[in-house]
Amino acid sequence: MKVSGKVIEYERYNSKSEEKLNDPHINFGSSGSKAFPVYLQSPYIFFEEYAARVIRSEMKVLDLCCGDGVHTVSLAKSNANVTAIDIAENSIKIAKLRALHERLNNIEFLVADVEKLNFGEQKFDIIILVGSLSYLDLTSLISQIKKYLKPEGKFICVDSLDHNLIYRTNRLIHYLCSRRSWSTLVRMPNMRTIKYFKREFHDVKIKYFGIFCFLGPVLTRIFNETKAKNIIDYLDIKFALLKKYSFKFVLIASNNQL
Ligand SMILES: C[S@@+](CC[C@H](N)C(=O)[O-])C[C@H]1O[C@@H](n2cnc3c(N)ncnc32)[C@H](O)[C@@H]1O
Repeated sequence: MKVSGKVIEYERYNSKSEEKLNDPHINFGSSGSKAFPVYLQSPYIFFEEYAARVIRSEMKVLDLCCGDGVHTVSLAKSNANVTAIDIAENSIKIAKLRALHERLNNIEFLVADVEKLNFGEQKFDIIILVGSLSYLDLTSLISQIKKYLKPEGKFICVDSLDHNLIYRTNRLIHYLCSRRSWSTLVRMPNMRTIKYFKREFHDVKIKYFGIFCFLGPVLTRIFNETKAKNIIDYLDIKFALLKKYSFKFVLIASNNQL
């Protein structure tokens, strides 16, 4: 029997999280941008600063494919009502422990498939998706966003680009070693994905990061972490024409149902 990409990825994330849960020394380390090496933090810092500007405490925020909650907890520090969803129940268990560790009680966690949400009449001010476009069918995702985003709401997405050679090669190797599904290779976001968002939403803003992030480990050794990050950020400005080769992008879409 042919196993679907969704099942392969579910099992992969669920068993990785199970291993983590069984680790007697489980620790939650840093969350949000601080969970990444300094030279890779810029897209997440941009995302967090933007989220902090637009999210107010009375808002309803939906974090799709929340995984083990590494970004959910930083969003929840805004005191907004956060709903976080993932298909892998073990990842949700870790996310709940992480929220407990951070003493946050404004997050509702749900095990669910993002392509088949059922919130009835409920709508959200902000919908977030971090690092997960390649796991979802784009048409289903966009129809779910349109269904559950308030007319004045915003969809914020952070992800990697298929045109980035390192990212693409890494995924291909994982696929060849049977660690990844074929669907995650073909669904890796690219400039066509971005065009699709631009067609579907009233207003779409994008910021690109890390064209030269592969230099990060070397620059960090030569200089220091902050200088390495600053050089990579500077090169993004200088070589903006190469933006399609960026490692990460942050996309902010406003609903077109105005
Ligand atoms: C790369 S992880 C990203 C997790 C988190 N957003 C982060 O940035 O740390 C992708 C997540 O998507 C989840 N996922 C994949 N397909 C899904 C689906 N159809 N519905 C809900 N979650 C899904 C996986 O279980 C996994 O936790």
